[in-house]
Amino acid sequence: MHIPFLTFAFAAGVALNPFLASCAENSKHHPLPSSFGVLLFPAFEALDVFGPLDALNLFSAQRQLKLSLIAPTLDPVSTSPRSAAMNPFNSTFSESILPTHTFDTAPPLDVLLIPGGIGTRSPDPFFDEHLAFIREQFPKVRYLITVCTGAFIAARSGVLDGRNATTNKHAWADAPVYGPKVKWIAHARWVVDGKVWSSAGVSAGIDAVLGWIAEVYGVDIAEGLTLDMEYERHADPSWDPFAEHYNITDHLPSL
Ligand SMILES: *[C@@H]1O[C@H](CO)[C@@H](O)[C@H](O)[C@H]1NC(C)=O
Ligand SMILES: *[C@@H]1O[C@H](CO)[C@@H](O)[C@H](O)[C@H]1NC(C)=O
Ligand SMILES: *[C@@H]1O[C@H](CO)[C@@H](O)[C@H](O)[C@H]1NC(C)=O
Repeated sequence: MHIPFLTFAFAAGVALNPFLASCAENSKHHPLPSSFGVLLFPAFEALDVFGPLDALNLFSAQRQLKLSLIAPTLDPVSTSPRSAAMNPFNSTFSESILPTHTFDTAPPLDVLLIPGGIGTRSPDPFFDEHLAFIREQFPKVRYLITVCTGAFIAARSGVLDGRNATTNKHAWADAPVYGPKVKWIAHARWVVDGKVWSSAGVSAGIDAVLGWIAEVYGVDIAEGLTLDMEYERHADPSWDPFAEHYNITDHLPSL
């Protein structure tokens, strides 16, 4: 494990030493990101949040990471559907997260993660504050990671305009409704366009965040976390049997 040495070396300001630079994975990502925020809203998809976060939870034992769970207020945020129409069997089956920060108190973030879920289909006025927060944060964060239909919220804020992105393949028909100016790539486990990493549906967020960790912190780190999770990682962003399953094609904006 050479990371503590490298961390020390960069902290000591010798990052430009050619020997160290050649040892470091992708020095363009330095200083390495440490401050993560997750945008929360009612009826988020649990795995969209906890899949990526569990990889990062494990990673936080190896280096200092900071997590902010961000919502309009500090009230618990639940996976529970927001309307009776979305809960036809009247189930009482949900989990809640306690936010750590509001939009007003969120600290500076290196990474903003936006999960998906049925709550992303809520009508526009409901998301006004979330969309404003994304617009305000987007120029400042170094990475925006969307999971599943989290890309719909990002698209609604406008920050994906003109960019390549992907989302949940079962929800594919709705992508151009929420993001008419987004180049929606059908066949992708995840898509990278500049600072934006967008993943396909639900479990794809785990692969996308492990792929992001591999790119930013190093493949050895990502492989170690994958082993710790006893997970079979899809490291190829073009691995996507679900695009075939749903027989979908790219949605490209008409210019
Ligand atoms: C759910 O609740 C509604 C309203 O009380 C009721 O009309 C409906 O029959 C319930 N559905 C089930 C499956 O229990
Ligand atoms: C966007 O996707 C298209 C089609 O896959 C590709 O040719 C292009 O290079 C991508 N652009 C960026 C900025 O990634
Ligand atoms: C897949 O979609 C195309 C049009 O996008 C259509 O021509 C074709 O018949 C579809 N195939 C299947 C197996 O549904």
